Amino acid sequence: MTYAVTDNCIKCKYMDCVEVCPVDCFYEGENMLVIHPDECIDCGVCVPECPAEAILSDTDLSSSSTWLALNRQHAEAWPNITRKRMPPTDADQWNGVPGKFDGYFSSKPGED
Ligand code: SF4
Ligand code: F3S
Repeated sequence: MTYAVTDNCIKCKYMDCVEVCPVDCFYEGENMLVIHPDECIDCGVCVPECPAEAILSDTDLSSSSTWLALNRQHAEAWPNITRKRMPPTDADQWNGVPGKFDGYFSSKPGED
């Protein structure tokens, strides 16, 4: 079992999750974070910290979900992030907007 960051993180990127992860397995893209599935120790403590409820266990993801693969792919390309910074000023406006991946996902790395 592992956890993955999903659609509602995009453009919210609150980063509360990185503060609590005991193994620092979050990686930063321009407008979302991902989890490296091989580094995650399945502790689950990040799940209730996310204001966007964007972190799901693989048991909650459908078998057709591409989120696990997306997390793995980008965790291997993006920089590690271990400290929360200021989230985007309009993060709350994006919380809950459907279909963000199709409209707004960025494969660019974050700034850490
Ligand atoms: Fe880190 Fe635990 Fe969340 Fe995995 S489940 S990303 S180890 S806080
Ligand atoms: Fe994203 Fe939630 Fe972390 S919005 S950056 S998974 S706290």
